[in-house]
Amino acid sequence: MESLEYHSALALLDWQIELGATEAISDAPVDCYTLPEKLQAPQKAAEPAVLPGPAPAAAKVDPVAEARVQAEAAQDLQELREALAQFEHCALKRGARNLVFADGQPGAPVMIVGEAPGRDEDREGRPFVGRAGQLLDRMLAAIDAGRDHTRNPVYITNVLPWRPPQNRDPSPDEIAMMRPFIERHIALAAPRVLVVMGNIPAHALLGKKGITRLRGQWTEACGLPVLPMFHPAYLLRNPAAKREAWADLLSLQAWLADG
Ligand code: URA
Repeated sequence: MESLEYHSALALLDWQIELGATEAISDAPVDCYTLPEKLQAPQKAAEPAVLPGPAPAAAKVDPVAEARVQAEAAQDLQELREALAQFEHCALKRGARNLVFADGQPGAPVMIVGEAPGRDEDREGRPFVGRAGQLLDRMLAAIDAGRDHTRNPVYITNVLPWRPPQNRDPSPDEIAMMRPFIERHIALAAPRVLVVMGNIPAHALLGKKGITRLRGQWTEACGLPVLPMFHPAYLLRNPAAKREAWADLLSLQAWLADG
């Protein structure tokens, strides 16, 4: 049997608290009066009277500022991967099996930015390896490009490097926390063009929502030309939209041929 995953365990605890549970108990009752002395709460010595005053302020960490400092400190992709592996402020990390950093060829002219790893990516630690990823590979092959391609190599990553539980959409806080890392990732991978696939990367990098309206319209972000496209998972659910995706792929191919 698979052990209880972090987010499921947390949801179960939340549920019990909502039902009114206030303390954890075991199968047999515990008589606290018969506990050995050293397990009982220590007797308080009389304390000198202290005038009430404001409690000392706990040092508050700003996870976005922290992410920016750590991302900016990375001088190459390996250091960025290590900085992400050590970043402890994003709760998604605790529920994920693996950090999903990138695949394909760093330095490739095309960098594809997806949303977040799914179950297959989380297992393998590589982006876009499930059904959507296989469709992405076929789409790229149709314009003579691919992650292992010599003539038109691509580099692939996601806005979120950890799988959200039950593949839910990442929250605005999670996106804001990871934005410094994806921006640094783009700067260090130094592509000539970005392809953002789906609403999450469009929102994170362009600050805009509505991929149906945005797709196919070349724009700019991070100092680079950007082509927003439908996400391949959306194309699997809506095969009719492959027509627009094909037009966008041809637009990318023409851009590469001109450059
Ligand atoms: N969807 C994404 O956006 N990224 C992946 O890596 C897999 C599925």
